[in-house]
Amino acid sequence: MKRILFISILCLLAVSGALAQKPTQPSWLSEAVFYQIYPSSFQDSDGDGYGDLKGIMSRLDYIKSIGVTAIWLNPVYVSGWTDGGYDVIDFYKVDKRFGTNSDLVELIRQAHERGIKVVMDLVAGHSSDQNEWFLQSREAPDLRYSDYYIWPSFKPEEPAQNGPMDYAALMNSSASLIRKFVATDAPRGPYYVKNFFDTQPALNFGFANPDPEHPWEQAVDAPGPMAMRRELKNIISFWMDKGVDGFRVDMAASLVKNDFDKSATIKLWKEDFTKWFDENYPEGILIAEWFNPAQSVAAADFDLDFFCHDGQYNYSSLFFYGRRGFGPNATPSTPYFDKAGTGELKTWYDLYTYQYDAVHGNGYVSMPSGNHDFNRVCTEGRTTPEELKVAMTFFLTMPGVPFIFYGDEIGLKQNPNAPSTDGSGGRAGCRIPMLWDGTSNGGFSTAPIDKIYIPQDPDPNRMTVEKEENDPNSLLNYVRTVLKLRKDVKALGADADWRLVSSLDQPYPMVYERKLGLERCYVVLNPSGKQVSVTLPTEASAPQIIGGSYTKCTYKQTKKGDVITLSPISSAIFKF
Ligand code: NOJ
Repeated sequence: MKRILFISILCLLAVSGALAQKPTQPSWLSEAVFYQIYPSSFQDSDGDGYGDLKGIMSRLDYIKSIGVTAIWLNPVYVSGWTDGGYDVIDFYKVDKRFGTNSDLVELIRQAHERGIKVVMDLVAGHSSDQNEWFLQSREAPDLRYSDYYIWPSFKPEEPAQNGPMDYAALMNSSASLIRKFVATDAPRGPYYVKNFFDTQPALNFGFANPDPEHPWEQAVDAPGPMAMRRELKNIISFWMDKGVDGFRVDMAASLVKNDFDKSATIKLWKEDFTKWFDENYPEGILIAEWFNPAQSVAAADFDLDFFCHDGQYNYSSLFFYGRRGFGPNATPSTPYFDKAGTGELKTWYDLYTYQYDAVHGNGYVSMPSGNHDFNRVCTEGRTTPEELKVAMTFFLTMPGVPFIFYGDEIGLKQNPNAPSTDGSGGRAGCRIPMLWDGTSNGGFSTAPIDKIYIPQDPDPNRMTVEKEENDPNSLLNYVRTVLKLRKDVKALGADADWRLVSSLDQPYPMVYERKLGLERCYVVLNPSGKQVSVTLPTEASAPQIIGGSYTKCTYKQTKKGDVITLSPISSAIFKF
């Protein structure tokens, strides 16, 4: 009897997750694969040179064909366009550049018909300085929206800043708050507090420890910040009730000011926003842009957070060319994912495992293939399909929910010379229009070439969806194969355990194990231009190779251990 019970438990473990996810997680999330669309650059339907919602609708079959199950749209609200849509003038209305609210509802309907979820961007921490709330607030202290913003009456001395300022610190540190005082001639002046650019005044969710000497510092539960909370919930409900499946929350860590350890911001999310959202929208998702899953997911109850370009926890040592570190101490660097094979894994490993351990079984850490704020994976020394296949194997076989930045599935190439557009600064180079086919402007738009949102790669050999559809060895078809494998083999999925099997002292190849119940896989990655071998602990029997981009790969059981040999710039996936 005991034996039967034991076997039943083993069987149960084999099919179910090793660790249960939190009960508030939407049921679709553990199988989800996201596709991030920067709407101005995806598909233009009316020939004005800007992508739009009808354009996205026309590409839904393609999106589905990749194997993705959800879309995250960068902001589509009425905007002042000084920061790519993150300066919102009307939170309740789609910008006419993209269409209408009805177009969005239609996009959601058509996406849902195909089993694809649609997630919007929620710019929670600031609005545009052209927003009606701000225009009213700047006039007088006793109007309806007066307390939606913060109006310091003088500028205190700036506390000493230890070390360089990164984006995470910008979200809220004592020195940075004073640096965010913007001088203004508004009647409420002389200052307002911004959240990011000067055109983005911070919304007022209160201060962690209001200083009585600073009358503009309201408590988190003062009437102004409480009204602000109601407004944010209103915005959320407005779109959720239109069928949206959730939000990626921009600068989610920035809400409560002078909250240096983030405890008040965590409390605000956990005890109010995420709790309220889970109760009202149990199948909805809240994704944090916080860059610290231990805080956002484990503590504040978001469903997932990113681990990519910013903050302390990032993957720059794996993917970024040019500099490591900040300011004068920055050193030129070649990343791990480069054929030079001179990279290291320890920097990333230490940061990643901290976050992975903090949230495993309780939400997700996601490493996106890219996003609208940093260089594309296809850039500088890493532009061939073979190099990109190794990187994509990594993104699509790690734990957590995969995010593909539109175009990364075809190797859409960073344009280092793209002119700053809509306040993008250097970020325009990754926000380039999608390349679909051989027609005008790569099938992106019928507008004259000088009206195209951001110039496209003029190379006649540039990759397009059409070319890659017709090539069985293309990156696009490879991505499809890996996503299919991820779907079929649960040990490669979001919930399965992860463990680095190879040694940090010998970074090439990187070998990690994915494991769910009794199912177990090894993923082997060799971004370097040399054939490499690694000796691993002896297994009961050799695994079967089930995927990868290798030209040669062997797994040999020897007296000294199990030896994997992998061709240059290759990946391999084994199943035990
Ligand atoms: C993060 C967004 O990803 C970025 O594009 C934007 O500029 C800032 N937040 C401010 O909203």
